[in-house]
Amino acid sequence: MAVQWYPGHMNKARRIIQAAMSDVDLVIEVMDARIPFSSENPMVTELRQHRPCIKILNKSDLADPLTTKKWLAYFEQQQGVKAQALSVQEKAKAKKIPGLCRKLLPQRGTAVKPIRVMIMGIPNVGKSTLINTLAGKTLAKVGDEPAVTKEVSKAQHRIILDGNIALSDTPGILWPKIENQNSSYRLAVTGAIKNTAIDFEDIALFAADYLISTYAQRVIERFKLKHCPNSGIQLLEDIGRKRGCLRAGGIIDLQRASEILIHEIRSGALGLLSFETPQMIANEIIAE
Ligand code: G4P
Repeated sequence: MAVQWYPGHMNKARRIIQAAMSDVDLVIEVMDARIPFSSENPMVTELRQHRPCIKILNKSDLADPLTTKKWLAYFEQQQGVKAQALSVQEKAKAKKIPGLCRKLLPQRGTAVKPIRVMIMGIPNVGKSTLINTLAGKTLAKVGDEPAVTKEVSKAQHRIILDGNIALSDTPGILWPKIENQNSSYRLAVTGAIKNTAIDFEDIALFAADYLISTYAQRVIERFKLKHCPNSGIQLLEDIGRKRGCLRAGGIIDLQRASEILIHEIRSGALGLLSFETPQMIANEIIAE
């Protein structure tokens, strides 16, 4: 699956965030808990330099909790990093973020010298939703299209949290990292790449193969199958038959079956799913 990001957009995003960085003490990077590696952007490390970072594994209400635990341990090993699983429903947990900021930067955090925080991440991971939760009101637009970079100017507005945390009300938007072919599939499966840029059959096949290998029992239960199919294409055909996706002449409509599978994954109908583990990623990097 080929997804094109325009170098102009990327360079502009980097320039804007780099300029804003001189007024930032701490970065909160928001990622999708179902795909922490694919929804992370290595540029955050380059842009934040020595600044501490809180990595938020957001949408953890949709992710496999055991895998999320592994990712939290993985990120916590990194220098200057604290990791936290979160979901939009967990407002009380989100409100603990200012305390975490103070722990990471105990020398700042006074009314005179507030900790200046910027939220960063790729589109659709929940940056705006988190800003709104922290602010306690709707400030930022929810649901930006991927690859849209908003101006984060030096004159940006700040929201004062708990008296001594100054949170930028505009998130730093970065593009996803898509050098890795599997990452682009995972971003599409989870909805980070919008539907206009994807071929449903292609990504549903990727998802079906993965589900068979990792969540076979869920597949059997959800689609009321006698046993787990041997291949992704067989699973799509089974879904097509079970859900009446048939064209004239009884031919299975794979496009409709694919849309059903992707919709059910994204809505949580197949249960809590994660699409990558630290071990899987380590193996993929070695294979590359
Ligand atoms: P962004 O600023 O990073 O681009 O993300 P934004 O907050 O706009 O959130 C993107 C979508 O993700 C929104 O749904 C939002 O409601 C949803 N979302 C945010 N946090 C969570 C979470 O913790 N759990 C779940 N399940 N969803 C979350 P939307 O605008 O309705 O888009 P869509 O759902 O139609 O794709």
